[in-house]
Amino acid sequence: MTDAASRALAAAAAAPADIAAAAAALEAGALVAFPTETVYGLGADAENPAAVAKIYAAKGRPQDHPVIVHVAPGADIDYWTTDVPDEARALVKHFWPGPLTLILKRNAHIPDAVSGGQDTVGIRCPSHPVAMQLLQAFKGGKGGVAAPSANKFGNVSPTTAQHVRDEFHDEVGQGNVIDAVLDGGSSQVGIESTILDMSRLATHGPVLLRPGHISAQQIADVIGAMPRQPDQAAPRASGTLESHYAPKAPVALLPTGDIEKTLAELKLRGRSAALIHYSPFPGVHPNVALPAEPKGYAYGVYAALRAMDQQQVELILVEAPPGGDAWLGVNDRLRRAAFGSTGIIERFLTT
Ligand code: TXA
Ligand code: MG
Repeated sequence: MTDAASRALAAAAAAPADIAAAAAALEAGALVAFPTETVYGLGADAENPAAVAKIYAAKGRPQDHPVIVHVAPGADIDYWTTDVPDEARALVKHFWPGPLTLILKRNAHIPDAVSGGQDTVGIRCPSHPVAMQLLQAFKGGKGGVAAPSANKFGNVSPTTAQHVRDEFHDEVGQGNVIDAVLDGGSSQVGIESTILDMSRLATHGPVLLRPGHISAQQIADVIGAMPRQPDQAAPRASGTLESHYAPKAPVALLPTGDIEKTLAELKLRGRSAALIHYSPFPGVHPNVALPAEPKGYAYGVYAALRAMDQQQVELILVEAPPGGDAWLGVNDRLRRAAFGSTGIIERFLTT
């Protein structure tokens, strides 16, 4: 964990009364937004299809996109899943609570609404203290909370309670679309959980559906097999849509060496641009400087995209991070944020 992340966590304090009220609201079929160590989630009782339907409506998310079920530490995964391979149990033991989602065969009684009609279910046990307290209070720790990231479909995921309120504005409040937003400070990891498909292990091996904080190598170290990239038959994941996690302004990724020149040319054309960078660029404004290492960068990247979007600029330039395994999660999210903006700089410089 970065220093900033541990400070944020120390400041995170949801009162026990808030937790109890949030658990009761979930039990009554309402939506509650809550912090996890990755991003904030928009939760509903996973066993209440009407409550899960409210998530889709609130997010504007297509019905066939499955949601992850969040469980309390020590939960019985065999209640939710079936045919669990030993390797999956080893991963649970090693990484939970923590930012790893496992896709497993779902148990027959798990509602279709959660799995988007697929025969699998995504399950994870988050490590954020407020999330753990909420999951322990909800149905006495025996329930599951279905929760996608608490943003409108396609937008940047929220890493603070304020981001959630910014996404949903007046839809938040008791008796409203979202009953409550629990505040747990800034999410320590900052990008969504690693998703590993273990549901077709015998035929396909472990498949990495979404890179994150827990790397393929860390997984391989536990199960002795390196996760593969998804093929055509892999289960659908909305986080794997090309355009996702995008702010309103177009995003363009640029190599470090091209940034000063591009900014100068854009300025000559009267174009406004913001910069997100990790190398020093003195005098560039508006900008966010992120740490030059992947964990600190991931912690700040979504807040940076949101902050630069609020500057009402025509373009958000992002200094392309280095390659390599440790930067995989960050590069995946930035590539999706920039999807659809191909050629935007050229357009701005020629028109
Ligand atoms: O870190 C996270 O995973 C956050 C926090 C709130 O836990 N949640 C999150 O949820 O990112 P969401 O819905 O924004 O992204 C979950 C991804 C989606 O791409 C979804 O399609 C995929 O997980 N997913 C869920 N269940 C699945 C399943 N049974 N098979 C394949 N993909 C699944
Ligand atoms: Mg999401």
